[in-house]
Amino acid sequence: MGNEGTSAEGSVRHTITARDVVVRFGSILALDNFSIEAPSGIVGLLGPNGAGKSTFIKTVLGLVGRDSGEVRISGMDPRTDVMAIRDRVGYMPEHDCLVDTMSGLEMVTYFGRLSGMSKEDSIPRSHEVLDFVGLGEERYRLTATYSTGMKQRVKLAQAIVHDPGILFLDEPTNGMDPLGREEMLELISRIAASNKSILVSSHILQDMERVCQHVIIINGGRAIAQGPMSVLLDQGRDRKRLKVRGEPKALMAFTEQLRKDQQVISVSEEFGQMTIVLVNEGASRPLLEMARRHGVQVRSYAPDKLTLEGAFIRSVTEGA
Ligand SMILES: Nc1ncnc2c1ncn2[C@@H]1O[C@H](COP(=O)(O)OP(=O)(O)OP(=O)(O)O)[C@@H](O)[C@H]1O
Ligand SMILES: [Mg+2]
Repeated sequence: MGNEGTSAEGSVRHTITARDVVVRFGSILALDNFSIEAPSGIVGLLGPNGAGKSTFIKTVLGLVGRDSGEVRISGMDPRTDVMAIRDRVGYMPEHDCLVDTMSGLEMVTYFGRLSGMSKEDSIPRSHEVLDFVGLGEERYRLTATYSTGMKQRVKLAQAIVHDPGILFLDEPTNGMDPLGREEMLELISRIAASNKSILVSSHILQDMERVCQHVIIINGGRAIAQGPMSVLLDQGRDRKRLKVRGEPKALMAFTEQLRKDQQVISVSEEFGQMTIVLVNEGASRPLLEMARRHGVQVRSYAPDKLTLEGAFIRSVTEGA
């Protein structure tokens, strides 16, 4: 991968790009004009069940066909560059991809062979990656006898056996106990530290907050928020939650003026009280004076600091 993240000029180059991707399964619109630009490093694809995370990953890998739109992985098109993608990309699927009649070692060696490795290379490399993921003597047992945590580990091992530069991990911590989850996240961080790009899907916000540098929030098949994790979390610094009361006409004129002056994120009304979430980078006084001029009574005006969870819930409910 090496130079895929940053060009000679130092600007960020994108590892995965999608533009207006549409994927339908019959009448279900799984990806709805999905557009993203994912840089190198660890990118989180965060979204609730049914959001389209797995569909997107499979589309990028060429396992699911798109109805329209463009997809590129490091410049490669999954429709045409099938072999190059097989060599350079690793995939840990969400569901079981294991063959019950094989041991963990046989399984990983087999996937190495499928990814184009010779038998001589694949066997020692499989031992190496199984050591890395923390599978010991269990590697000689049939995968049918594995616990969920062991299955996740062997699935990670098969994804990295051919030393790909780009990895897609679909819900890698699924079904793991807290200790196993910690270890899985640690493994993901260690893989990324060796200059790999990782796209990891999850609906577990804390996991994402721990390991991702960049996050894409997906809901209803659309990318509804994306950006560096730090920026997304930091947005809260200038976000304010303003609660006001007043005559409907006054409130309307006030919110209209606000929309002209500030970035208004949402407006909601309940029991005659209006809650406005807005971005105000300046001082609070002009805004409060403007409310008074409109005859609007300010009940509260406070920071609206974001956690990733907050960003997620708001993006989903505000449908940004
Ligand atoms: N093969 C398929 N046939 C029909 N519908 C499908 C198929 N695969 C996905 N879908 C539908 O597409 C939508 C997106 O599904 P997808 O599996 O991509 O979501 P997800 O974000 O991965 O969810 P989860 O967190 O549950 O894994 C859902 O409505 C799902 O029912
Ligand atoms: Mg999924």
